[in-house]
Amino acid sequence: MNILVTGGAGYIGSHTIIELINACHSVTVVDNLCNSSSESLKRVEQITGTHIPFYKTDIRDRAGLETICSTTAFDACIHFAGLKAVGESVSLPWEYYENNINGTLVLVDVLRLHGCKNIIFSSSATVYGDPAMIPITETAPKGTCTNPYGWTKWMIEQILTDFHTADNSWNIVLLRYFNPIGAHSSGLIGENPNGIPNNLMPYITQVAVGKLEKLHVFGNDYDTPDGTGVRDYIHVVDLARGHVAALSAIENNCGVEVYNLGTGKGYSVLDMIKAFESVNGVKIPYVIDPRRPGDIGTCYSAPGKAAEELGWKAEYGIEDMVRDSWNWQKKNPNGYEA
Ligand code: NAD
Ligand code: UFG
Repeated sequence: MNILVTGGAGYIGSHTIIELINACHSVTVVDNLCNSSSESLKRVEQITGTHIPFYKTDIRDRAGLETICSTTAFDACIHFAGLKAVGESVSLPWEYYENNINGTLVLVDVLRLHGCKNIIFSSSATVYGDPAMIPITETAPKGTCTNPYGWTKWMIEQILTDFHTADNSWNIVLLRYFNPIGAHSSGLIGENPNGIPNNLMPYITQVAVGKLEKLHVFGNDYDTPDGTGVRDYIHVVDLARGHVAALSAIENNCGVEVYNLGTGKGYSVLDMIKAFESVNGVKIPYVIDPRRPGDIGTCYSAPGKAAEELGWKAEYGIEDMVRDSWNWQKKNPNGYEA
């Protein structure tokens, strides 16, 4: 298929492009590079030996998107573009609602005017709020989000669902990611956060490489086996392959479908530290701090629906994830900057 990938220079997008090319799809990337570098795409070209058409365009730029969609007829769009920092969204709510929601509205309008009504959207387990059940199935109710970022995912899911209600020629796949970590095995691409990382794994790798002194573990008094937060970490390459599998739902005229992309296994913060230390032979000093506002104790998926309907399941284990995260960080201590 001919796929438009928004946000393709970012962490998950760059890994997904490789898997799309491996599965013989054609890819065009749109990204405004507000949280990424075009270097990631150069490295994807190096890995795949394939030229990737790239437009440095904002998805809110209607004229820019019109030009792209007039040049190429797309069969589907995989929509990653968006702002994603939970804490920043609390202090910049307008920017998050405007970028994520307005961006999506402009994108889908231009797509439909050019006859493309197939979209795969990057949603998040955050839409479950404090989950009503563990493991979380797709039938669990959407919950109350604790930040504007989460609400943008919640609302965009609703907006896209309403499009399909009004016009059932849309096919919409809402992929709810759990916690992506890891990197391509080449170590050429990986997660490249701006400033001090918010997420656990990039924080750990920056401690390991000596950029940060120690990890702050946010709370050890949750109702979990060791008191620290439990999450469903998924290798970004598995996650990327989930998008390729989701294209089969589009091809089968799925209407609106929701899939969890997770492993179904929960690991605590202390489990992650131990796994990182034992696989990589690097010590991670840490201190226990108070809980982070808005965090929940336990979050992991029931991944069975994607297995049954898409034939997809995560293949990599926690050792692979911590090994590949470290391989990327140690080969690129400053990310994509030389
Ligand atoms: P990322 O920041 O690395 O990638 C997002 C990309 O979108 C960046 O390259 C950025 O430059 C681009 N972008 C942002 N706004 C844009 C705009 N208006 N126009 C064009 N490009 C724009 O993030 P990621 O981790 O790769 O996440 C990809 C998607 O998955 C995001 O929508 C994110 O919210 C979602 N998601 C991520 C996680 C996670 O833990 N990484 C979890 C759940 C959902
Ligand atoms: N944690 C620490 N110290 C840190 C960072 C995180 O102890 O420096 C802990 C958190 O308290 C939590 C766990 O590590 O228990 C994972 O935290 P992350 O910030 O890595 O991930 P979250 O589960 O909080 O959130 C992530 C994304 C969200 C997404 C969600 C989906 O940041 O965008 O996964 O499950 F919505």
